[in-house]
Amino acid sequence: MNICRRNMYSKKFGRLMFGLCTRCSTSVVTAATISTSHRTAVRLTSVCKHRMHFLERRSQIGLEHARVRCSSQTTVDPNEVKRFQLLASKWWNEQGEFAALHSLNDLRVPFIRDNLLNAHGRGQPGKPLAELRILDVGCGGGLLTEPLGRLGACVLGIDPVADSIGIAEVHAWHDPDVRDNVRYRSITLEELSEKGGQGAGQFDAVVASEVVEHLAQLETFALCCNQVLKPGGSLFITTINKTRLSYALAIVAAEEVLHIVPRGTHDWDKFVCPVELERLLESHGFHVDSVRGMLYNPLSGAWKWTENTSVNYALHAVKLKEDTSPDDDDDPIVVVAQEKARRWYN
Ligand SMILES: C[S@@+](CC[C@H](N)C(=O)[O-])C[C@H]1O[C@@H](n2cnc3c(N)ncnc32)[C@H](O)[C@@H]1O
Repeated sequence: MNICRRNMYSKKFGRLMFGLCTRCSTSVVTAATISTSHRTAVRLTSVCKHRMHFLERRSQIGLEHARVRCSSQTTVDPNEVKRFQLLASKWWNEQGEFAALHSLNDLRVPFIRDNLLNAHGRGQPGKPLAELRILDVGCGGGLLTEPLGRLGACVLGIDPVADSIGIAEVHAWHDPDVRDNVRYRSITLEELSEKGGQGAGQFDAVVASEVVEHLAQLETFALCCNQVLKPGGSLFITTINKTRLSYALAIVAAEEVLHIVPRGTHDWDKFVCPVELERLLESHGFHVDSVRGMLYNPLSGAWKWTENTSVNYALHAVKLKEDTSPDDDDDPIVVVAQEKARRWYN
C-alpha cells in the first residue's frame, strides 16, 4: 500500500516536473523570440539549442528547404500539356494560331534587351546580349528563344511538351545565326532547379512569356525562378490580368468570336493581376522593377505599349542579392536564429 502510494506520488511529482520543464523550455523560446534585448541572458535547454541550431542552419543554407518543395511540387497542369501537344506543329505559322505571339516579339524582345543592357551594360557590337545566359521557360516552338539568341545571349528553352521542343530544335538548326546560341530541353522548371541540378544559380535572366497563365502553381514557379537565377538576375514575365475586360477580350473575343487563339486556350481562373504577382514575387526574394501594359489590335495584328495594364502586361523583377525564404520572413524564431547565425559566421 505504502509502496503504491509512493509510486503514485513519485509519478505525480514526475509529471509536475516534466510539465514545468516543458513550460520552462517553451517560455525560453518565447522569451528568445520576443525579447531581443534579453537574448544573451537566456539559457537554452538542449532541445531549444537543437531547434535553434536547426533554424540557424536553415537560414544559412537559404532556400534549401524551398528547393525540396520545388522538386516535390509541380507547375505542370496535364490538361495544358495536352492542349499544347495538339498545337505543336503550328508554332512557326505566322498567320496561324500563334500569330499574336509572333508579333508580340516587337514589344517583348526590346523590353528584355533594354532591361538587360541597363543591368549589364553593352556586349559586343551586333551581339548586345553576348555572355548572358537566359532561360526561356515554356519556350514552345522557340518564337522568343531565337531572337534572344540572335542578340548574342546563350539561351536555353525548356518546355514540358516534347513535340514543341522537337519543332524548336529543327527550326533553330536551319538558322546559322541562332544554331550556336540556343539549346532546348523537354524538362520542367522544377526539375531544372532541383538541388544539385544543372540549372541552380546559373542564369542571368529567366523569361516566361505568356506562360504563367498555363501553370498549375505559381508559388512553385516563383521559388524555382529564384533558384535558377544568379543574385541580381532578371525575371521577365508577360501575361494576362484577371479583370472583367480580360475575360471579355482574351476569352470571349479572342477565342470565341475572332478565333485569334483556339477555344479553351485560356482559363480565366488562372489569370493573375499585377498586384498579386508582385506580392508573390516580393515574398520569394524578388524586387519588382517595372510593370507595363500591352495592347493588341486584332485588326492590324500589332501590339503597342499602354499605361493600361487591365488586359495584357509585362513585368520585370530582379532577384535580391540576399535570399530570404518566404516562410522565414514571418517566423520570429527564424528572425532570432538568423541574427544569431549572422553574428556567429561573420
Ligand atoms: C502560350 S505558349 C507561349 C510560348 C512561348 N513562351 C512564346 O511566347 O512564344 C505557352 C507555353 O507554355 C508551356 N507550358 C505549359 N505548362 C508549362 C509548365 N508547367 N512549365 C513550362 N511551360 C509550360 C506550353 O507547352 C506552351 O509552350
